[in-house]
Amino acid sequence: MTEHAFHQHEADSPGSHQAAHDAGPGLSGNGDGQGIRDAAALWDERYRSKPQIWSGKPNPQLVREAGGLRAGHALDLGCGEGADAIWLAQHGWTVTAVDVSTVALERAHGHEKAALARESVHAAEGAIASRIHWRQADLEEWQPGEQYDLVTSQFLHSQELAWQKPLKTAAAAVKPGGTLLVVGHHPDRLPPWGGAHPTHEMFYTGEQLIQELGLDAPEWQLEVQTSRERPVTGPEGQQATIADVVVRASRLP
Ligand SMILES: C[S@@+](CC[C@H](N)C(=O)[O-])C[C@H]1O[C@@H](n2cnc3c(N)ncnc32)[C@H](O)[C@@H]1O
Repeated sequence: MTEHAFHQHEADSPGSHQAAHDAGPGLSGNGDGQGIRDAAALWDERYRSKPQIWSGKPNPQLVREAGGLRAGHALDLGCGEGADAIWLAQHGWTVTAVDVSTVALERAHGHEKAALARESVHAAEGAIASRIHWRQADLEEWQPGEQYDLVTSQFLHSQELAWQKPLKTAAAAVKPGGTLLVVGHHPDRLPPWGGAHPTHEMFYTGEQLIQELGLDAPEWQLEVQTSRERPVTGPEGQQATIADVVVRASRLP
């Protein structure tokens, strides 16, 4: 696929606040050691292709859904260049942010340091201190080993990673009383220039998420299950409206 096949909020894309995320480079050999190495190598390559891939702004559904939560310990799965983790930290959260790409994580850490430097001048913007732990791991295998007040995963779409397993890991990592927030591109509302995408299987509807993660079980309270439209601008300046699947659920105490 081309770099722009499916992505809107890259740093140089005009007029859109947030991404229509490209799912990254293709991969063969998923499920064996080669696949795991390739996931990191291919995402590193993609990130290296530009100085900045994403907009640097937090995802709007995160801001909307987590903005009213009491800060605690958060886990961000597939954190990319770190804008969501930094936003959470600026709002009082201690964050563990996981991604397979060391290039993305180095960039994220750089953005964190820049935010810290700005805060030393403009303290009113918030203090993120050292509350973000950037962690390189492959979500095909990684298990957190602890539970969190908030687990968020935004647009974890990747040709070499089936969403079911990492998002089940996400759900299992929510503390009793904590919140799960999963956001993705609606499979039926992808932008027209995403034609290079080989499959819809990397995307999910709210219904599929709920069923696969067992969020209809008595231990969960479903707070939000919706699809929200969002205007995006394509690589050639084309306009389109896509939709984000948003599922927010609380694990009952
Ligand atoms: C479409 S990007 C979304 C990034 C970020 N959440 C955002 O909204 O800007 C998908 C991210 O998933 C990461 N990723 C892909 N496969 C992964 C894997 N197997 N384990 C961990 N992260 C992975 C990529 O490196 C990339 O940063």
